[in-house]
Amino acid sequence: MKRLLLSLAVLLTSAMAFAGEGMWIPMLLQYNEKEMQEMGMRITADDIYSINHSSLKDAIVLFGGGCTGEIVSDYGLLFTNHHCGYDWIQRHSSVEHDYLTDGFWAYDRSQELPCPGLTVTILREMRDVTEQVLFEVTEEMTEEKRQATITENMKRIIAEVEKTTDYKVSIKPFFLGNEYYLLLNEVFTDIRLVGCPPSNIGKFGGDTDNWVWPRHTGDFSIFRVYADKDGHPAEYSADNVPYKPVQHLQISLKGADEGDFAFVFGYPARTSEYLPAVAVDQEANVIDPIAVRLRGEILDIYNTYQEQDRKVRIQYASKHAGLGNGWKKWMGVTEGINRFHGVEKKRFYEESFQEWCLGSRLRYLYINLLKNFEAKYKELEPYKVAYTYLTNAGLNIEIIGFAGNFNKLSEVTKETPQEEVDKMLASLKKASAEFFKNYHQPIDEEVARAMLTEYLQNQPADFRPDFLNDIADVNAYVAMLFEKSMFTDEEKVNDLIDNFKPIKAKKLQKDPALVAYQSMIRFYREEINPKMKPINDELAQMQRLYMKGQMLMEPDKRFSPDANFTLRVTYGKVEGFRPQDGKNYRHFTTLEGIMEKENPEIYDYVVEPKLKQLYNNKDYGRYADKDGSMHVAFTASVHTTGGNSGSPILNADGQLLGLNFDRCWEGTMSDLVYDPSICRNISVDIRYVLFIIDKFAGARNLIAELDIAE
Ligand code: ARG
Ligand code: GLU
Repeated sequence: MKRLLLSLAVLLTSAMAFAGEGMWIPMLLQYNEKEMQEMGMRITADDIYSINHSSLKDAIVLFGGGCTGEIVSDYGLLFTNHHCGYDWIQRHSSVEHDYLTDGFWAYDRSQELPCPGLTVTILREMRDVTEQVLFEVTEEMTEEKRQATITENMKRIIAEVEKTTDYKVSIKPFFLGNEYYLLLNEVFTDIRLVGCPPSNIGKFGGDTDNWVWPRHTGDFSIFRVYADKDGHPAEYSADNVPYKPVQHLQISLKGADEGDFAFVFGYPARTSEYLPAVAVDQEANVIDPIAVRLRGEILDIYNTYQEQDRKVRIQYASKHAGLGNGWKKWMGVTEGINRFHGVEKKRFYEESFQEWCLGSRLRYLYINLLKNFEAKYKELEPYKVAYTYLTNAGLNIEIIGFAGNFNKLSEVTKETPQEEVDKMLASLKKASAEFFKNYHQPIDEEVARAMLTEYLQNQPADFRPDFLNDIADVNAYVAMLFEKSMFTDEEKVNDLIDNFKPIKAKKLQKDPALVAYQSMIRFYREEINPKMKPINDELAQMQRLYMKGQMLMEPDKRFSPDANFTLRVTYGKVEGFRPQDGKNYRHFTTLEGIMEKENPEIYDYVVEPKLKQLYNNKDYGRYADKDGSMHVAFTASVHTTGGNSGSPILNADGQLLGLNFDRCWEGTMSDLVYDPSICRNISVDIRYVLFIIDKFAGARNLIAELDIAE
């Protein structure tokens, strides 16, 4: 009975899961157009993506290698997140010009700062090349032959197309290798920093609020794309001119109301929505909890020391952010999958798949697939667990990771060319300065004790690196490690670098931190990877087959391919949610909330005096909501993932409402299983962005070039 009820519940929720789910290929958006319009959209699929005339897609860019941005003026002005521009802001910052702390604003174009190495990529066209890529590929061929044939075909197709275009040509697999699309991209290389708010605004709430609603982060930064005088991409030159886009986004000042249709247009990086139940179960209930536990222990240690000492707080801020981001996200994945019966829903679906197989003429291909998945994932599990321990417990002992930098140096002999050695030493010098600037040995010792204890207690001898098997007593080992290793001592390390001779390499090899590092790497290369790789290759093949089977079983269903860092449209509604019984989240936050969170003692919650003044005077100008308040952020049921940071969230008319920058942790399971009742993306309200640019920074020059619909 319980089972039947559950099945019914599953059926009901999946029937209700009309929209929200799915990351759609823009060139195929005509198939979603009707649904989007029924939900409120007033533009057409062709307005969003067209190769015959300008469309919204011409304003959407891949920012660098991992974020999205959008062009908002006729002069190549671009918005993305503060956390996406962070590295570039940091590179321009120094003690005299601390742009991270104080913000940066170019009040005319001559003040804009070049960012060599930063690229902006714009998709010009997409083509379905599945048939050409799979030419002469058969179901009977071995996987190796299949891959070789595909690689050959792709090379030939790309070479052909390259003859006809200056754009960058590439081909990417979709639907786990069942379909292939060719992409024509234009890559701009002269990108300049135009503006960013102080971190008090752009990173307000910091890691404490990361993944969390209610949120008050002004997570935006501003860049400009430059081109040569003919409008083509060019390396930085003082002669370059602002790029005139084919289309830029118009900005709405109307805001986002509950229930409004909204869509996100950007570059989601990776999702896995078509995994079998066993894989989701493993991810959510075996792997993620281990990573969460290990990282949680480390973060607790960081916290203790960070709370005691201001200097340590700064030293460990970025490390804390790095470990904390995954930690919080995976906690959400486990909780979400279990609360919303992600595994049971998949199992239920698999029963119908199995039934379909029985009646299909392709039965021979599919009938054992699910059973084989169970076996293969079981086979994979201990290696995946071992890998999780290695990366989270082993390599997070800082002294061991740092020693790893010296691995190559330890192999230097008299025969090694001096030039090569000098290069190594120069880069080690830098790495060493970086490392010691942010190193606090008591933390590392405690982390080492905790992680090695975890390792020894929870991983069997043949699933851990050799050096661990010689440890009789963790405390004694850690004491020895930190006493004997030179890598705790900046002077010794610098002396080694400054006065290096090949004869010293031998001594280096005996350093216990380097010994531990080498043992870990050997363990990965010789034990883990050789076992994992063939299993993963086989799984990839099975997943491709399963994907195809699912599409055959439901020929009328619109499937959306997993995210793969290509341009996608996702859509839903502006709405809040109920994360727990009795808890109700409104869909927006306001400046009031910033004042509520204000705490001059806590770094993440310091409020800029100027912002306070604007708040006290209620000086919001035309950026105020119709309710009179200053809206800061809002949530929507739009399916997003990493890479969607900086993506525009647009209204029914295709106007800019805000910039996507995060999700609510309760719904991070959406990378595996999407549930519209709990999965929410978080965006900064574009009116708050303009308010900061205009009222806070006084950069009227930037406001003047925007296309604002009142
Ligand atoms: N959670 C967001 C993402 O996955 C934001 C991370 C940066 N922000 C932060 N406070 N650490 O990228
Ligand atoms: N912060 C993420 C990013 O940088 C977006 C949040 C998410 O994973 O949805 O891409």
